[in-house]
Amino acid sequence: MKITVITGSPHRKGTSALLADEFIRGAKESGHKVFRFDAAFETLHPCLGCGRCGSTGRCVHQDSMETLLPHLKEADVVVFVTPLYYFGMSAQLKMVIDRFYAVNSDLMGSSKKSILLATAYDDQDWTFKALEGHYQTVVAYLGWNNIGVLLAGGCGDRRAAQASSYPIKAYEMGKNLV
Ligand SMILES: Cc1cc2nc3c(=O)[nH]c(=O)nc-3n(C[C@H](O)[C@H](O)[C@H](O)COP(=O)(O)O)c2cc1C
Repeated sequence: MKITVITGSPHRKGTSALLADEFIRGAKESGHKVFRFDAAFETLHPCLGCGRCGSTGRCVHQDSMETLLPHLKEADVVVFVTPLYYFGMSAQLKMVIDRFYAVNSDLMGSSKKSILLATAYDDQDWTFKALEGHYQTVVAYLGWNNIGVLLAGGCGDRRAAQASSYPIKAYEMGKNLV
């Protein structure tokens, strides 16, 4: 399968990057083709809500979304990876999702599968409630099929994440993708 992984952390060696790395390692071992887009290290602009894409079919911004979009459209599986920021996804990842607006009709109902990988310092039963609700709502709106959510609470830094069971769980999610 073709898998597009979109990460949203500004830490190249952070906790969510570790989950992304492990997921990708497993997926590649199983023969899947992976494209990784690290939003924090790309040139991206937020949606202006200008509606120009509705009339011209193109976003007014010419930036790294042009690299991502072909991989997004052709993906069988889209993996969203983010640290928890104030109970939601990071702005870096949200900016990418807002930019889906210009290609909404291509993405909607395209029977893609999707996965959420997230990390946070806290580990309460409600820590990820808002993020997961948002993710599930976006996926339902797009008509995609959620096939997995990995919510790594208690992973406030790389050492904590490495000591947890979440990296191996991320690896297994990638390895066992069908
Ligand atoms: C701006 C900001 C907001 C955060 N908000 C939360 C939060 O709401 N709940 C939480 O448990 N951790 C929160 N954290 C901690 C991060 O989610 C946590 O450190 C995570 O492991 C960082 O992931 P990364 O290493 O992939 O960047 C926040 C961190 C930052 C910088």
